[in-house]
Amino acid sequence: MIVPGSTSQALAAELASVLDDRLAPVEYERFPDGELLASVPGIETDRATVVASTVSSDAHVELLQLQDALREAGVEEITTVIPYMGYARQDRAFVPGQPISARAAARALSAGTDRVLTVDPHEEAILEFFDAPAESVTAADRLAEPLPDLTDPVFLSPDSGAVGLAETVRDAHGAGETDYFEKTRRSGSEVEIAPSDVDVAGRDVVVVDDIIATGSTMSEAITVLRNRAPERVFVTCVHPMLADNARTKLARAGVDAVYGTDTIERVESRVSAAPAVAGALR
Ligand code: R5P
Repeated sequence: MIVPGSTSQALAAELASVLDDRLAPVEYERFPDGELLASVPGIETDRATVVASTVSSDAHVELLQLQDALREAGVEEITTVIPYMGYARQDRAFVPGQPISARAAARALSAGTDRVLTVDPHEEAILEFFDAPAESVTAADRLAEPLPDLTDPVFLSPDSGAVGLAETVRDAHGAGETDYFEKTRRSGSEVEIAPSDVDVAGRDVVVVDDIIATGSTMSEAITVLRNRAPERVFVTCVHPMLADNARTKLARAGVDAVYGTDTIERVESRVSAAPAVAGALR
């Protein structure tokens, strides 16, 4: 049985379809004081897979409740799929006094599950924070699917850490050069991008990252590219968070199209991570 969190309904439905499994009739309620109540009526199974991206603090609490509802109903084997794990980028105390939020979230989620699966975490090392067995899968190879025909393409990542994703998308597309920018983060919403050496003039460029959050990284990358006369600039990512005015930033910078997966459900979620998740669950 696949149990969808409210944040991952499309992905859970696709997963149920790929695995030919049942989709649980989850109910989400909110009390007048703002507290949540996520219920799974009529549970009659020994094994369940709950699927919920923790895109917000509420989503995190809801996932804890779904896990608990399953245990309360006597489900013996619970797998927790966290397509996008929130708080994962705070994977260390960057200055004294800060928490390791990824560890705090992982420990809480471990208590209600027998196994954890996530998709393209920012750092694989966060898997170590779970007390339950945890693994990741990649959906990056599907990011090439919505791309149009490309002219002499270059696949760039905004920093060296994401160049593997750019290579994955290039390989899935079939041809093209890869490179990365040098990125310096000035604050939560300000980044500085130094151009790569690749000549992009007259070529189609695809910028690949794990997540577009505020859009600062991608819009800065697009601005740098636009000064170097590319043909078209596409941006693609696994997790299209696209918070606040991210879309406006990208549009003002001159992006031609934005693509992502359904680990975070947005209009830009053009491909599903379900096949990758299903592959690990079979
Ligand atoms: C950071 O290293 C990540 O890979 C992303 O580049 C970053 O989190 C994107 O954030 P934003 O859209 O806020 O610049």
